[in-house]
Amino acid sequence: MRSKSDTDLGTPVGADAPAVTVTIDGASVTVPAGTSVMRAAALAGHKIPKLCATDSLEPFGSCRLCLVEIDGARGYPASCTTPVRDAMVVRTQSEALARLRRGVMELYISDHPLDCLTCPANGNCELQEMAGVVGLREVRYGYQGENHLASPKDESSPFFTFDPSRCIVCSRCVRACEEVQGTFALTIDGRGFGSTVVASQREPFAHSECVACGACVQSCPTAALTENSVIAMGQAERSVVTTCGYCGVGCSFKAEMKGSSVVRMAPNQNGSANHGHACVKGRFAWGYATHPDRVKRPMIRARIDEPWREVSWDEAIAYAARELRRIQTSYGRDAVGGITSSRCTNEETYLVQKLVRAAFGNNNVDTCARVCHSPTGYGLKLAFGTSATTQDFDSVRHADVIMIIGANPTEGHPVFGSALKRRIREGAKLIVIDPRQIEIVKLPHVAASYHLKLRPGANVAVINAIAHVVMTEGLADLDFVRERCGARDFATWRGFILEPRNSPEAVEPMTGVPAANLRAAARLYASAPNAAIYYGLGVTEHSQGSTMVLGMANLAMATGNIGRPGVGVNPLRGQNNVQGSCDMGSFPHELPGYRHISDAHVRSAFEREWRVTIDPEPGLRIPNMMDAALDGSFKGIYIQGEDPVQSEPDSGHVTDALRKMECVVLQDIFLNETAKFAHVILPGSSFLEKDGTFTNSERRISRVRKVMEPLAGFADWQITCQLSAALGYPMAYAHPSQIMDEIARLTPTFAGVSYAKLDRLGSVQWPCNDAAPEGTATMHVGRFVGGMGKFTITEYIPTEERTSARFPLILTTGRILTQYNVGSQTRRTTNASLHPEDLLEIHPHDAEQRGIRDGAWLDVRSRKGATRLRARVSPRMQPGVVYTTFHHPESQTNLLTTDLSDWATNCPEYKVTAVEVVPLAKLEDYEHERRP
Ligand code: SF4
Ligand code: SF4
Ligand code: SF4
Ligand code: FES
Repeated sequence: MRSKSDTDLGTPVGADAPAVTVTIDGASVTVPAGTSVMRAAALAGHKIPKLCATDSLEPFGSCRLCLVEIDGARGYPASCTTPVRDAMVVRTQSEALARLRRGVMELYISDHPLDCLTCPANGNCELQEMAGVVGLREVRYGYQGENHLASPKDESSPFFTFDPSRCIVCSRCVRACEEVQGTFALTIDGRGFGSTVVASQREPFAHSECVACGACVQSCPTAALTENSVIAMGQAERSVVTTCGYCGVGCSFKAEMKGSSVVRMAPNQNGSANHGHACVKGRFAWGYATHPDRVKRPMIRARIDEPWREVSWDEAIAYAARELRRIQTSYGRDAVGGITSSRCTNEETYLVQKLVRAAFGNNNVDTCARVCHSPTGYGLKLAFGTSATTQDFDSVRHADVIMIIGANPTEGHPVFGSALKRRIREGAKLIVIDPRQIEIVKLPHVAASYHLKLRPGANVAVINAIAHVVMTEGLADLDFVRERCGARDFATWRGFILEPRNSPEAVEPMTGVPAANLRAAARLYASAPNAAIYYGLGVTEHSQGSTMVLGMANLAMATGNIGRPGVGVNPLRGQNNVQGSCDMGSFPHELPGYRHISDAHVRSAFEREWRVTIDPEPGLRIPNMMDAALDGSFKGIYIQGEDPVQSEPDSGHVTDALRKMECVVLQDIFLNETAKFAHVILPGSSFLEKDGTFTNSERRISRVRKVMEPLAGFADWQITCQLSAALGYPMAYAHPSQIMDEIARLTPTFAGVSYAKLDRLGSVQWPCNDAAPEGTATMHVGRFVGGMGKFTITEYIPTEERTSARFPLILTTGRILTQYNVGSQTRRTTNASLHPEDLLEIHPHDAEQRGIRDGAWLDVRSRKGATRLRARVSPRMQPGVVYTTFHHPESQTNLLTTDLSDWATNCPEYKVTAVEVVPLAKLEDYEHERRP
């Protein structure tokens, strides 16, 4: 249910239309033609009673509570479904209307439990409120007639309860599931008195198609659908607007609080990224913040085989600083480094890189973005001049063709996935390029026009072939290219892409994509008025990740699909603040704002502000730090909110490297896998325990606000400041707003950002500066940030990782909806029960060949290592390709992955690993056969 503080205008904002003026209860109001009478009245300050209408859903007109009188109209029209006309005269209050409304309410209340005082919605119930508004004093029909009061509850969902006895069959939940979420799990079954809400084929919610997004619960005007947390704790006392701590969609929430406990996370109707929607993680999976596993005391140990010793903050910080300085004295200034966190705030990330550059005195700082979207930063900067998405999420509302490459938005970025589904239901065409049949390929009312089911690793060949079709079939926008792009680069690229070896027919044997399908998809993309590309880690986590980003940029420029709403090249960033961690100078070669460390002018600005000399040489990337540790030249590391043992590829290499270090300082909320190799644990803080900002996939900077005190005493930014002070470089900030002020002073794209502005506008998208004081939704309008768009040759070079007789299958990886990354948060919430283990998806043909049955335990081995997973036999896979998720540490998927990486950025090639899978029951035979 929406918060009381949210103004509900009853029906959604209409399409752009000429203004009309109407008179409502004697007051004049001017609104776009087509606006509902209910909305116009609300805008004029007159609240018409309503139950089935809400402004997040299309009007339905079922409850008949919103009747009005309109001059010249017969009867009493429903104001929610009646559009205004110019000069219309409306009355929302009269004796007759009051009588009618009371009559409607009487019918509802005669079949409703009269236990308001003990109802979980008490005080936040629209039915209760409307009974008061219409002045209901008695129910003439009594309460003894036929009713639904004994209907059994559906308590199957771990997140919410459906109590049919409180249902008024307003259909808001059904419409929310359809219109907002796009899952179509609910219907109203039966007729008349027998009408009831059912999930799927009359199944319990937990066993239905429901994905637990909670949109139905939020839309319900009564307590028929209620969060279990609200049933347990009661209604909240206050709310604080903050930003989700999970994925790169960056949904805005109201954390509804009772004391220092969260009662419910209610998506913020005014959130520009999510417009009041959320997914099962952001809405329901916040319990990890207070999980008993949280580390609450600092700990130290001299060696990793010793037990931990709980110590005071002062002792832990002093020990860490002493050790890091000792290492620098013994092994040199460059023997230490740091890893920033994409889970932490911009301000915290900024401080870690500042500590490394100013207090350590080197540039050995890197981020986990290295292992996900570093090719995005490289490729988009080279092509367009800036390392970020070209659009905002709402841009998709203008797209006519949507191309999704190597992303699974309905599971990985669910709220944006819902926006995509909505646009496709409205008529946009969909092209999916993915080895697997991801969910959005076929869903109720959504079907991809083309699914190019390519072989993992063949992205570049496919994008080149699409561009080849565009150029050979005269589908390019040459005017755009002439005006906006470098002529010489384009001519060189044109010569390359026209070569017959890039044709769909030539690449078909390598890609596995039928040439005719590829040609048709290329024509669809290129001939659309607006075509947009959305992509994910299936693009970047390859040895040719950067080449593929450049290939998509080439295609978008060649077809003129850049620089306006509805188009663009749009990375879907993984973690909540992965964009921000890159923006904040987390890479060893870049200061905040993606400015190269070798630029003396840029360095001098930071040197003045920080009062230090900055090393002009780039520092070590994470893989280089690990290599240097094994060489003996890198001995100490400060890791904030990361788990490289689980998240880096070839984890055996990482653990060997960490074992050789003399001081690993880990700042985290849980003892993760990396903690096994740490010497100092500094207890971190969750997103609920601190102030700051996150920057989402669309460059949107949003406030994170503290709703509870840090469990261990300090927010992460405060801990970094303490460590820096102990290292002899004090950083004095009273509040994260001062850190943002410093970022704004030093970073041109953030120059106009301040907490005051964020409070005023809710959020802003960078660049935000004098040229764009309220931020920038669409980039490269009229001109690329880098001047002229740059075409680059994108030669397809197959990965060195090949299948063989011994490893005949390709393993690729991804996420599922209910879990998040390495699972350290979601596994500590109710979501754990929804995906208790990682499974290996395998095509029925491959399974049959190996005698694998659904659910069987498998030995999965690659050239690098082996692990065990259970099988899910699934026609979603293509033969020769297997797939798994990486949410559970015991799966140890990264033991399998290779040490191959993107040529430009070292982003690991997680998406292509040659493996063999053998049922455990047959492992002995298999090993016997393989013995030389
Ligand atoms: S469950 Fe709630 S939203 Fe759904 S029909 Fe019943 S009262 Fe309306
Ligand atoms: S929780 Fe979401 S998916 Fe499930 S029934 Fe409600 S709206 Fe539909
Ligand atoms: S879509 Fe992402 S940001 Fe939004 S609620 Fe879900 S996890 Fe949080
Ligand atoms: S609110 Fe208009 S008919 Fe229900």
